[in-house]
Amino acid sequence: MASIVVYFSHTGENYSAGGIKDIKTGHVETLAKMIAGELNAPLFRLVPLEPYPHNYQETVRRSKEEYDSGARPSFDEANMPDFAQYSDIYLGYPNWFGSFPRVIATFLDKVNLDGKAVHPFVTSGGSGISFSDREIKSFAPFCDLCRGLAVNGDQVESALPLVKKWLGK
Ligand SMILES: Cc1cc2nc3c(=O)[nH]c(=O)nc-3n(C[C@H](O)[C@H](O)[C@H](O)COP(=O)(O)O)c2cc1C
Repeated sequence: MASIVVYFSHTGENYSAGGIKDIKTGHVETLAKMIAGELNAPLFRLVPLEPYPHNYQETVRRSKEEYDSGARPSFDEANMPDFAQYSDIYLGYPNWFGSFPRVIATFLDKVNLDGKAVHPFVTSGGSGISFSDREIKSFAPFCDLCRGLAVNGDQVESALPLVKKWLGK
């Protein structure tokens, strides 16, 4: 059966080990492309209809409000894949407050992942996956949650060996 890589990634000011940096390509995006390349799988980027601010502190403010209020920000569904044809979903997101951005919650609410293998991959400023994988299971209790991959945001460029190992290559 087939695999697909689904991800959300924030460009602009972001936090990694060295402090706040302005990045043109999001860390998760870099990792998502690497994984898709190794699997020869399609990519679907979750693009929020209301873009997140460029500024780090403003992004933190908005995403914290979304987290606290249980918001479900909409994403562009124009090219939404037919997930029924995929058995394996590689789901990528940055660690936001130990969890995932709420647009991932929107995705998990919307797409039926029952019986599908879900492989989380996460970039962070150092916290790794935290409790985000358990949260996936609470949104999609009947998915088969597989071992996740965590990479520090500032190390994604050199993550290919880790990715290959994670994929069992
Ligand atoms: C709103 C927000 C919250 C974050 N919370 C955490 C956190 O709790 N722990 C952590 O290690 N990194 C945290 N980070 C840092 C991101 O996880 C890290 O920069 C990640 O690599 C960004 O990936 P991206 O460029 O694909 O969005 C946070 C970043 C943002 C913008």
